[in-house]
Amino acid sequence: MQRRKFLAGLGALSLSGLVGAQERGAALRGPDVIFVPTPNEVVATMLRMAAVTNKDTVYDLGCGDGRIVITAAQKYGARGVGIDIDPERVAEATENVAKAGVADRVKIIRGDLFEADISAATVVTLYLLTDLNLKLRPKLLRDLKPGTRVVSHAFSMGDWAPERTAEVSGTTVYLWRIPPRK
Ligand SMILES: C[S@@+](CC[C@H](N)C(=O)[O-])C[C@H]1O[C@@H](n2cnc3c(N)ncnc32)[C@H](O)[C@@H]1O
Repeated sequence: MQRRKFLAGLGALSLSGLVGAQERGAALRGPDVIFVPTPNEVVATMLRMAAVTNKDTVYDLGCGDGRIVITAAQKYGARGVGIDIDPERVAEATENVAKAGVADRVKIIRGDLFEADISAATVVTLYLLTDLNLKLRPKLLRDLKPGTRVVSHAFSMGDWAPERTAEVSGTTVYLWRIPPRK
């Protein structure tokens, strides 16, 4: 149901992306997928599946309101980096980070997740779409250190089989681990 609502919302994407790009003077293109927040119980499962600790640096690619990286910092003492292409989301997430009192550990960056430097991540979280996961997959495998955990809310990576999955609140959470270099 939640997935259906998410996919239905994509109908508005091309128009809102176009208007947004015009308003911003087309400095950065519009988002590839609209903002739909991950429910808090799903955030909790994602971070638990990735076994996040205070040694981790969690990157949320398309961070929305920043809830995943904020929770990782608050609950586990992790560092967090949230990246979003939409300036409204960046402003909202930055405000939420300050309100949550985790600005010393969490950074919000405006940028395109396909272009961003993600090499410092030890955990990557995603709530995108399967075709965006597939487009991102070569970058994840190239840029992330072996052993880095990748967790996706609702969307798979095609024929890259997950190490684990979990069902929560009617959705699937997927976990992969970046394999050793050949
Ligand atoms: C479905 S929301 C997920 C938000 C958050 N990760 C969560 O799970 O609550 C997807 C987010 O990705 C952002 N986004 C879409 N395309 C992007 C891109 N190319 N680079 C960075 N952010 C992008 C959108 O602005 C939106 O905030």
